Amino acid sequence: MTDTPVILVTRKLPDAVEARLRRDYQPILNPDDRLYTADEIIAMSAKADAILPCHTEKFTADVIARLPDNVRAIANFSVGYDHVDLDAAKAKGLIVTNTPDVLSDATAEIAILLMLGAARRASEGERMVRAREWKDWSPTFMIGSQVTGKRFGVIGMGRVGQVAAKRARGFDMEVHYYNRTRLSADLECGAIYHETVEELLPHCDVLSIHCPATPQTTGLLNNERIALLPDGAIVVNTGRGGVVNDDALVEALKSGKVYAAGLDVFNGEPENIHPAYLKLENVFLLPHLGSATRETRDDMGFRALDNLDAIFAGREPTDRIA
Ligand code: DGY
Repeated sequence: MTDTPVILVTRKLPDAVEARLRRDYQPILNPDDRLYTADEIIAMSAKADAILPCHTEKFTADVIARLPDNVRAIANFSVGYDHVDLDAAKAKGLIVTNTPDVLSDATAEIAILLMLGAARRASEGERMVRAREWKDWSPTFMIGSQVTGKRFGVIGMGRVGQVAAKRARGFDMEVHYYNRTRLSADLECGAIYHETVEELLPHCDVLSIHCPATPQTTGLLNNERIALLPDGAIVVNTGRGGVVNDDALVEALKSGKVYAAGLDVFNGEPENIHPAYLKLENVFLLPHLGSATRETRDDMGFRALDNLDAIFAGREPTDRIA
C-alpha cells in the first residue's frame, strides 16, 4: 500500500516524460498507444487519482459524470481544451490543466510552413517530382504567390499567434490582428489591431487562425466572412478545424477567391476530413503536427507533470483552467 498517486496516461508519451512518471507516480501507461474508448477510460480510472489525456480523448459531460470519484484531476497534454467539458468538470469538482507556452514556437513554425507551402504550391510540386511528372522548367512554370511584404492577419493573438506574427515579420509582412482584448503595445510590436474579425479580414493577404475552438468560434470562417478577404488571400489554420466552415472554404478555394489554404487541423480529423480537401491542388495538408517536435513534446509532458506535482502537493497548478 502506497500513497503515490496513480495516473492514467491515455497515450504513449515521450520516453523522458514516461521515465519521470515512473519515478514520481504509479502510472498506468499505454505502451501500444491505442486510442481508448470513453468506456475504457472510465473503467481504467477505477483506481486513478488523475488522468493525463490528449486532445484525442473526449471528456464530454457524460464521460465526466461517469468518472469515478477517486479521479481528482485531468492534466491535459495539450494547450487546446475543447475536448473537455469544463463546466461539467467544475461541477464534479475536478481540477483541469493544460500546457500553454511550451508549444508556441513549434506551432508557429508549422503556421509559417503552411503559409509558404500553400503560397508556393509546395505539395503540388513535391507530388509532381515524386511522380516523375516534372518534365521542364519555364518562366511560367508553377507560379505561386509571394508573401514577402504582404499583410499577415491573425485571428487569436495569444501566445502562438504572437510568435507566428513575429516570424511573419521576418518576411517583412505587416501584421494585423483580431483578439478578444487588445494586447499591450509591448506585445503588439507594431501589429495593427482590429476590433472585430470583420474589420480584420479585408487586411489579410494571409489569414492565420490561432484562436481556440469554442461555441463562439465554431464555423467562424464562413461564406460571409470569406467574402471580406482580399481576392486571392491565403488561409492557414493551426488552431482547430471547427473554426472553419469547410464547405465555405472549399467553395472559395475552387473559385479562386482564396488562392490556397494550409491546414494542419480539421473538422472530423483524422479520418473524416472534408473529402474535397484531398482533391484540391491548392491545399497544403498536414496531419495535426503543430506541436510535433521532440523538444516540444517533452516540454508538454513535463508541463503536464508540473501541474500534477502541484495538485498532489496541495498547491495551485500553474495552468489551471477549471
Ligand atoms: C494542442 O496542444 O492543443 C495541440 O493541438 C495538440 O493537442
